[in-house]
Order: sequence, then structure tokens, then C-alpha cells
Amino acid sequence: SIFRSVQSAVARNSPRRSYSTDSVPERKVAVLGAAGGIGQPLALLMKLNPLVSKLALYDIAGTPGVAADVGHINTRSEVAGYMGEDQLGKALEGSDVVIIPAGVPRKPGMTRDDLFNINAGIVKSLCTAIAKYCPNALVNMISNPVNSTVPIAAEVFKKAGTYNEKRLFGVTTLDVVRAKTFYAGKANVNVAEVNVPVVGGHAGITILPLFSQATPKANFSDEDIKALTKRTQDGGTEVVEAKAGKGSATLSMAYAGAMFADACLKGLNGVPDVVECSFVQSTVTELPFFASKVRLGKNGVEEVLELGPLSDYEKENLESLKSELLASIEKGIKFANQS
Ligand code: NAI
Repeated sequence: SIFRSVQSAVARNSPRRSYSTDSVPERKVAVLGAAGGIGQPLALLMKLNPLVSKLALYDIAGTPGVAADVGHINTRSEVAGYMGEDQLGKALEGSDVVIIPAGVPRKPGMTRDDLFNINAGIVKSLCTAIAKYCPNALVNMISNPVNSTVPIAAEVFKKAGTYNEKRLFGVTTLDVVRAKTFYAGKANVNVAEVNVPVVGGHAGITILPLFSQATPKANFSDEDIKALTKRTQDGGTEVVEAKAGKGSATLSMAYAGAMFADACLKGLNGVPDVVECSFVQSTVTELPFFASKVRLGKNGVEEVLELGPLSDYEKENLESLKSELLASIEKGIKFANQS
């Protein structure tokens, strides 16, 4: 967990123990959009992660300040800020993991798809640079609409001849984080022990929490499950409305993004049985991309896990999300190939 990472980072920096890199491999992480609402707290959390040896913070503006600030923290990683497109290559070179929270967030009344026109172009140009400067990096896509930006990234990489479906991830961890929090609150159990897979995509009804598989088991009525499902699907909108025009989830997203990147790094480092939900190329359903549990390893995706048994309610929801999710995927593919 992040907390344990922080503790061990602090322990490693204690004056009585000199830090040895023998056991922990060098890993470079780049954050693209690092001066933004998500980017800044995400930069902080990645700086606290002892698995990171180099942290590259890239944005079109503001990164020298963020890097100077975060760089003073006495943890393992070396921090560098990169600003403007001519420094993007340097930021990316040698990266093991690239996290992308670049782009505009929602305002009240907007859907994630309303962000498409601006964010699709940003993601396309960033992925073109990734293909050139760090084609082997694991890409963690946060920029919305994830249901479309991941297919855009795949098409860009295919055109560049660098696509490997094992290395491209849509970050849906915040949906899992929310499902766990809401479930634990309603069931009155210790949230640290709760597990809930969330499958499908990352927008509205395409977000499908599988509360029938949640542990520890709770005795919920159908109405309770419906309400929990709806709250998970609308969790982002809850934050957008509470922020009243000042953006969308940033702090909880930074936490979720840091958790997912940590899982990717653990996988790369050979830690066994690292499983997280993510929106990836998939054959679990007939859709080309789908979020489900994924086992992470030295090459990125080690295995895309099956959905497992679904309740009738979940089966119904699964069928009704497919057309919207497919449309978003096709929209991304079309954009990448037309412009
Ligand atoms: P923000 O506006 O606070 O920050 C975005 C940053 O991206 C800014 O610093 C901006 O300068 C930078 N940027 C813009 N164009 C860029 C480019 N070409 N290269 C590099 N950086 C560029 O927005 P915030 O709140 O950080 O959200 C970022 C994205 O994350 C949005 O698309 C939002 O919808 C998405 N998001 C995704 C979630 C998920 O669960 N996957 C949850 C919450 C937000």
C-alpha cells in the first residue's frame, strides 16, 4: 500500500541505514500533465514510492516549480521537471512507466465524452512521442474519456509499429477505490479488507461494479445493490458537482493512479500475484477493449482474467453497457485514423 511504501521510504532514508539499490531495480516513471490537478498530488505520491529511482515531471507549463518542490523530499527518486514539447523526448527517454493525466477535466453538466475533442488530440500527440522515445514503457492512461483515449493510444502505437497490448492500460482504479469505499460504508465493515472488482469501462453505465463478488460478503437487498452501483457509476459526477466548476476528482484520482502505477512497478519487478482491474485489450467479451481483473508481470499484462459468475442484475447491466462502450471505442479508433 501507499502507506507501507511511505514507511519504507522513510526507513530507507534514516541516517543509520545507507540506502542500497541492490534489491530494488532502477525504475523511471514519467508523469505527463504533472502540473495539473491530478499531476501534482500524483507526483508527490510517486516521489514517496521507493520503487521509483527517477521521476520525470512533464507538462506544457509549470513543471519547474512542481519538480523543485517535490524534489526536496528526502526519498529515493531523483526528480526532474520538463516543460514544453521540445523537452518531451528527454522526459520520456528510458521510462519504464508513463502515467498520463494530461488534458481538460469535466465541469458540471459535462460527460466524459464532452472532453473528447480536446483530450483526443493531446493523447494522440503524447502517444506519438512515447512510440518514439520509450516504446517499451507501460502506459497508464488517466486522461478522459478513457473508453476512447486507450483505443486512440493503441492506434497511434500500431501506426508507429510499437503496439504491444500487454503494455497499454486504461486506469479505472478510481472506480474500484470508490466501490470499495461505498460498499464498506454501507456494509459497515473495515474498508481495508474490502475487495470489489469493477469491470466494463470508465464512464457512466459502462462502469460495472461486481458487488456479487465483493468480499467480505454482506447481506444487501437488490435495492441496496442498485444504489451502490449507481453511486459508483456517478462517483465522478458527485465530485464534479461538489467542486462546482473547479474540475473533477484530483486527490482520490492521484491516490488511485499511484496505486495502479505501484502495481505496474511491482509486476515489472517480478512480484507475484499482482492483480488490479484495468481497461485493456481484451477477449473477455466481444468488445476489443474491456476493463476486468488483470494479472501484472514483467511484461505488463500477464493475464486478463475472466469476469467470473455474475448476478442477473450484473448480466443485464453488462449487456446494456456494450453498445455505449463499443461506440466510444470506435470513436477513438476513427479519430486516430482520420487525422
Ligand atoms: P487539470 O486541468 O488540472 O490538469 C491537466 C494538466 O494537463 C494541466 O497541467 C495541463 O497543462 C496539462 N496538459 C494539457 N495539455 C498537455 C499536453 N499536450 N502535454 C502535457 N500536459 C498537458 O486536469 P486534471 O483534473 O488533472 O484532470 C486531467 C485528466 O484526467 C482529465 O482528462 C480528467 O477527465 C481525467 N480524469 C480521469 C480519471 C480517471 O478515473 N481515469 C479521474 C479524474 C480525472
